[in-house]
Amino acid sequence: MKPLTLENTKVGIVGTGLMAVAHARALKWNGIHVAGILGSSYEKTRLKARELEIPHAYQSFEQLLNDDQIDVIHLTTPNHLHYPHAKAALLAGKHVACEKPLTLTAAESRELMCLGREKNLVTGVNFNFRTSAMIQKALEIVRNGEIGEAFIIHGSYLQDWLLYPTDWNWRLDPEAGGQLRTVGDIGSHWLDLVSYVSGLRIQEVFADFKTFHNKRYQPIEGGKQQEINIDSEDYAAILIHFEKGVQGVLSISQLCAGHKNRLFFEINGSKASIAWNAEQADQLWLGHRDQENRILVNPGQKKLSSEERKKTSQESFNELYRRFYAYLVAGDYHQKPDFPTFEDGYYGMLVSEAIEQSAHEKTWKRVKLEELDRFNL
Ligand SMILES: NC(=O)c1ccc[n+]([C@@H]2O[C@H](COP(=O)([O-])OP(=O)(O)OC[C@H]3O[C@@H](n4cnc5c(N)ncnc54)[C@H](O)[C@@H]3O)[C@@H](O)[C@H]2O)c1
Repeated sequence: MKPLTLENTKVGIVGTGLMAVAHARALKWNGIHVAGILGSSYEKTRLKARELEIPHAYQSFEQLLNDDQIDVIHLTTPNHLHYPHAKAALLAGKHVACEKPLTLTAAESRELMCLGREKNLVTGVNFNFRTSAMIQKALEIVRNGEIGEAFIIHGSYLQDWLLYPTDWNWRLDPEAGGQLRTVGDIGSHWLDLVSYVSGLRIQEVFADFKTFHNKRYQPIEGGKQQEINIDSEDYAAILIHFEKGVQGVLSISQLCAGHKNRLFFEINGSKASIAWNAEQADQLWLGHRDQENRILVNPGQKKLSSEERKKTSQESFNELYRRFYAYLVAGDYHQKPDFPTFEDGYYGMLVSEAIEQSAHEKTWKRVKLEELDRFNL
């Protein structure tokens, strides 16, 4: 295998949707060469290749896999494809950057994590909020002990794009999106982010789910709609026990009119509180009892409209892949990576599985953290 440099590393992207564009832009921003792309049809692939100025349009996943010039594969497809494609890519000796949630089950994530380690390949999972500038600042503040010992971690992740029963997306099909819908799609980000910032793992959860739209309407050919029964969660309320006796609570839904991408968390500690809202990503709130509260502002913030600000997280993608490729070309894969990996994807899936079990059994469920300890994570 050739020694990888930023100049000679070549990437193939799978998927042609929203995330394919975000990944392609982040790679371009980092000067990484995207050599080819693959979509669900050759027509779509060719159009996206032209739009994103990617030289090659693949006709099949096998063609991409067998392309010896490709070193890294980015997976930006619906959730059910992550596991088979990541597994095949690792077996073919390719490094893999995969969208979240990593897989549909914890067992699949564990298998991918082990395979990546066994093959000494770099794996990344796209928990991109971690690399937002003000999240990095929050991490520094928490690690410096400025908020003291954490007591409570709470928040929500709210969006509105599934508000109406006529809103349809592959995420509503459990075969493509997984049994957990809202928790897997956006809860996964929140759960990862608060564990990352606080440095605390989730030990136990108690989840309460609600489906408000038991029927939704999927567009089909001829401008018609097909009625589909839905039983995945429109709303999840989750009580959380973190390590060190820290208490948490989270609300998640994609039926919250007015909220485009409101990931919000607050950590209340023995000295101060800290809070962040993804819709105002360039700000970090610090709460004090005996002095004025402060809002820290990202010195690198761009002049964006408030609508753009709600949608954009491109900078966090740019930074995540800057880190991923710096690590890849440095070549020592025994060093601890400074970006989220398949290990983090596996932790996320263990938490998700406990949430799913809790919601069904209506009882507290332990996260199987001993599984992580077995791998010294
Ligand atoms: N990190 C984030 O902030 C974030 C945000 C949105 C989505 N995601 C994740 O990214 C993934 C994709 O989501 P999206 O919003 O881009 O979805 P999307 O529907 O916009 O795009 C999915 C793409 O995959 C393509 N596709 C489907 N089957 C395929 C196949 N067999 N081979 C190749 N391509 C195929 C579709 O044509 C489509 O272009 C999901 O796992 C989702 O959870 C992450």
